Amino acid sequence: SVPIVRTVAALREIVAAWRRSGASVAVVPTMGALHEGHLSLVRSALQTADRVIVTLFVNPRQFNNAADLAAYPRTENEDAAKLAPLGAHLLYVPDPEEMYPAGFATTVSVSGVSEGLCGAFRPGHFDGVATVVAKLFLQTGADLAFFGEKDFQQLHVVNRMVRDLDIPVTVVPCPTVREADGLALSSRNVRLSPAERSVAPKLASVLLETAERLANGSPVMPTLDEARVAILAAGYREVEYLELRAETDLQSLAGLDRPARLVAAAWLGETRLIDNISTSPS
Ligand code: PAJ
Repeated sequence: SVPIVRTVAALREIVAAWRRSGASVAVVPTMGALHEGHLSLVRSALQTADRVIVTLFVNPRQFNNAADLAAYPRTENEDAAKLAPLGAHLLYVPDPEEMYPAGFATTVSVSGVSEGLCGAFRPGHFDGVATVVAKLFLQTGADLAFFGEKDFQQLHVVNRMVRDLDIPVTVVPCPTVREADGLALSSRNVRLSPAERSVAPKLASVLLETAERLANGSPVMPTLDEARVAILAAGYREVEYLELRAETDLQSLAGLDRPARLVAAAWLGETRLIDNISTSPS
C-alpha cells in the first residue's frame, strides 16, 4: 500500500530523505475521487521522476458554491487502493486545518489568464486554485508537476504563476483521458443520471466536429453559434461559454490564425461539465 502523510512536517521529512539519495520528485495534485484521467497523470509522473507524490485535498477555497463542495465525492480508501498497484510513492492528504491554519490570510491571485471562461462564472475559483497549488509546490518541493489539459485554463493559471513567482518546478501538461464515447473523464460524471449520461458525450462530439470545421476554414463566429445550438439541441440546459482561444496564452481569437483551443462549459441538468479540443489552421 502507499504510505499516507497528513502534515507538512511529515511530508518534508520524507522528501528530504529522497533528496539526500539524489532522487527526483514529482507531484500530482488532485482532489481525489480518482479516475483514469488522474491515474494517467500518475503513470506519466512515474515514467519521468524517481519519486511520485499524489496529493489528495478537496480545496474549500476553490469552490465558489457550497453545495458543490458538500457534494464533492470523498473516497480516500478507494483512491489509495487505486494508487498502490501503480507504484506511487506517497499520498499526501492534509486536513483543511493543516492547509489553512487559523489566521491564514494570503491569497495568490493570477490576473489575465484567470479572467473570462471559468473565471467569469466561478468568482474566486482560480485564486483558490493558485493559492493551494503554490502551497503544494512549496510543501513538496517537487521538481516536476503533472496537470491535465482537461482543465486547460487551470493549466495556464498554474504556468503563469510558476513563471511569475520563479517557482522551481517544471509543469508537465498531460492529454485529456476520455470514455469510449468521447466524454472527458471527470469526478463530477458520477452525478449524471442515466439519461444525462447518454447526452453527455455530445459536448465532446460537437467540439470535435466544430474544431474540424474551423480547421477547414469555416468562419469562427457563425460556426461557434451553430455549435452552441447543437449542444442545447442535444439536451444540455445551458452553454456557459464556448470560445476559441490561443493555445499558448489563451488570448481570444476572432479567426483561426494560430494553434488554438476550442473551450466550453455547459450544464447538463444540475451538473456543470467542461471540455476543450485543439484546432489549428490547415
Ligand atoms: P482534480 O479535478 O481532482 O484534477 C486533478 C488533475 O487531474 C488536474 O490536473 C486535472 O486537469 C486532471 N484531470 C482531471 N480529469 C482529467 C482527464 N479526463 N484527463 C486528464 N487529466 C484529467 O484540478 C484539480 O483537481 C484541482 O483544481 C487541483 C489542481 C488539485 C487544485 O486543488
